[in-house]
Amino acid sequence: MRVGKRTRGRRQRGLGWRWVALAGSVLALSALVAGGAVAAGGGGHPSRPANPGIEAKVHALLAQMTLDEKLKQLQLMADWQINDVEAEKGVGAVFSLTNPERINHFQHVAVEQSRLHIPLLFAFDTIHGFRTIFPIPLAEASSFDPDVATADFTFAARETAATGLKQIYSPMVDISHEPRWGRISEGAGEDPYLGSVMAAARVQAAQGSDYSAADKVVTSPKHFAAYGQPEGGRDYNTTDMSEQRLWNLYLPPFKAAFDAGADTAMCSFNAINGVAGCGNHETETEILKKQWHFDGFIESDYTAVAELINHGVAADGADAARVALNAGTDMEMVSTNYVDFGKQLLNGHEISMHQIDDAVRRILRVKFRAGLFEHPYVDWQQAESKQLLPDAVAAARKAAGRSMVLLKNDGTLPLDPTKSVAVIGPLGNNQHDMLGPWWGVGRDQDAVTVFNGIKAQDPSATFAEGCQILDKDPPDPPNDECGSDAGFDAAVAAAQTADQVVLALGETRGEGGEAESRSNIDLPGKQQELIDRIKATGKPFVVVLFNGRPLTLQKVDAAAPAILEAWFPGVQAGNAVADVLFGNVNPGGKLPVTFPRNVGQVPIYYNHEPTGRPCDPTFKWNSRYRDIPTCAPMYPFGYGLSYTTFDISNLRLSSDTMRPNGSVTAWVDVKNTGSRTGDDVVQLYIHDPVATISQPVRRLRGFQRVTLNPGQTKTVSFTLDRDDVGFYDNSGKFVVEPGTIDVYAGDSSVGGLTDSFTVTP
Ligand code: NOJ
Repeated sequence: MRVGKRTRGRRQRGLGWRWVALAGSVLALSALVAGGAVAAGGGGHPSRPANPGIEAKVHALLAQMTLDEKLKQLQLMADWQINDVEAEKGVGAVFSLTNPERINHFQHVAVEQSRLHIPLLFAFDTIHGFRTIFPIPLAEASSFDPDVATADFTFAARETAATGLKQIYSPMVDISHEPRWGRISEGAGEDPYLGSVMAAARVQAAQGSDYSAADKVVTSPKHFAAYGQPEGGRDYNTTDMSEQRLWNLYLPPFKAAFDAGADTAMCSFNAINGVAGCGNHETETEILKKQWHFDGFIESDYTAVAELINHGVAADGADAARVALNAGTDMEMVSTNYVDFGKQLLNGHEISMHQIDDAVRRILRVKFRAGLFEHPYVDWQQAESKQLLPDAVAAARKAAGRSMVLLKNDGTLPLDPTKSVAVIGPLGNNQHDMLGPWWGVGRDQDAVTVFNGIKAQDPSATFAEGCQILDKDPPDPPNDECGSDAGFDAAVAAAQTADQVVLALGETRGEGGEAESRSNIDLPGKQQELIDRIKATGKPFVVVLFNGRPLTLQKVDAAAPAILEAWFPGVQAGNAVADVLFGNVNPGGKLPVTFPRNVGQVPIYYNHEPTGRPCDPTFKWNSRYRDIPTCAPMYPFGYGLSYTTFDISNLRLSSDTMRPNGSVTAWVDVKNTGSRTGDDVVQLYIHDPVATISQPVRRLRGFQRVTLNPGQTKTVSFTLDRDDVGFYDNSGKFVVEPGTIDVYAGDSSVGGLTDSFTVTP
């Protein structure tokens, strides 16, 4: 079903893949399109013709540039590297500078004092908000609502651009099956379909139809490619995978982001099958630039060009520059091998002027498209007044509420606002950690704590910390991670004097994000003991979790009457938590990633391939763990409860066959069978039971978050076409094979209604 196709104004293009995002409904997504002609300089995406005016300006400027000036454009400097001399020499871009007065200063030097007056491109890691911090991306994926991602990136772009920054190193679209990996917090979880929908929404929101607009920025999807699957979950580690997995699982969100208009990209630290991300000709040039017609530029990750030496694919700095530039990495971040060795490599015919010119042309093209030549400066005195405005703060609160997932509830929730509440736990009156990893220029003092949020709705609330969890790196567990039970008696006393208890537990924000892998993903420190002490009081209690990854929650689940997964909710954390706990917002989020029972089950993900001996815990000779009495995870992908109940019924298909160029529509009814208004996320999965290569036991191909009043029924439809039922084979070729396709409809990746149709040759 094709509804509301988006276009891009000045640089108009249709989406190369079909998806529809209208008020939270996402209906159909067709697969990647491989193959096609090499993108000519500025030829761009087939549905986005080049702007001849811009191409002519790029051409004219390039013709005047000396080799030194060209190489300088390929340099990306950190805030601590830039100075007046470098700005005057005309470096290409600067990142992490957030003082708008300093940004303007260097821009004045570049524009007024460099020979060719080429503006600098200022970039920043705006991952989930700039000053108004939204929930972490993994949380937003839990909303199963692209409008949440849209709101985040609309306000984030406005605040970022108002500071004089014109590029964001975002969205992070790495699919991951690795809860041990701290960076799972930055992405949309384990599913390529959900990840694609969120990626496209973020890019469109940040860039709009024309990213030269004063409130827009150019996006840079990262980390290209497959950075989300480091061996052992250890950041920066090797990745080894089949071609079909790369294409079916890891590339789709990137393709969605570039089809949505993303005009820059960041190559990754990790190596895939022995080839490092920023030295990978196949992914950078063959796939991204040629097959996908990407005519923007690729910057390296931080010193990733120099790290080609550590990877063992370059002998020295000159060699690293040779490998990276020839692979298609246009701009070098922090390390300086392009500038240092470019001339030498050119003289030795190890790189070509054509390659250098292509890289410079791509960078200049983006600068022209960003409007930097016309409007290089920012009104720095106004910059801060454009941050943390009431509309953004309200959107952050709504986003946080829609992103929370109710994991367990015996009826303790919602809390009774007329009864007294004790807020207990190391994250109960904490501002710092609520912002999560990658907090932009967010300030701790802007964040609403759980205690303050609850007090605003129940003034009698009290607080006891129980123990401290401090954001230190590396942590000293006995001291920093709820290592002492000295405050437990006071916490128990607070619980005893209250009618109901909110236990605010989890990780610090420093435990998520880059270089923050954990080998043990239980609640840190003595937090489980704190739960057990509170349970012993006999008071009704709820555990509210703040974390950036799936945790292993077997013991928490066994002890707690109710569990709310709040992730890191951002600046409005406490208000949003209180909204949900008191039932003013009925939780409707679903897990975008599987929660394992214990870390030994990792990797565990819903869309795994079948095996010859599928898991059966009652029988020895099959694919199971001897010490886990079930094949199930703790909580599956797509799972989440509500304060009301839903019934999904009446799955019907428009046809029992899908013909060439044809489609099949599935309808299903969803009814609110409880007594409160609430949201359910209806999910459509498929499975191809017989194919030339094993197909995942389920693949999400559609979802829709609906709000229903008590007793209300809605019919939801999903249209599948050949692109939905096909898959990439091990040569990276997209194939649609005839045969049966099973369809499942439900509100999690487990169970649901089922039917099937036949794909005809
Ligand atoms: C390294 C990170 O991997 C990347 O995501 C980030 O954009 C750069 N540093 C710049 O901060």
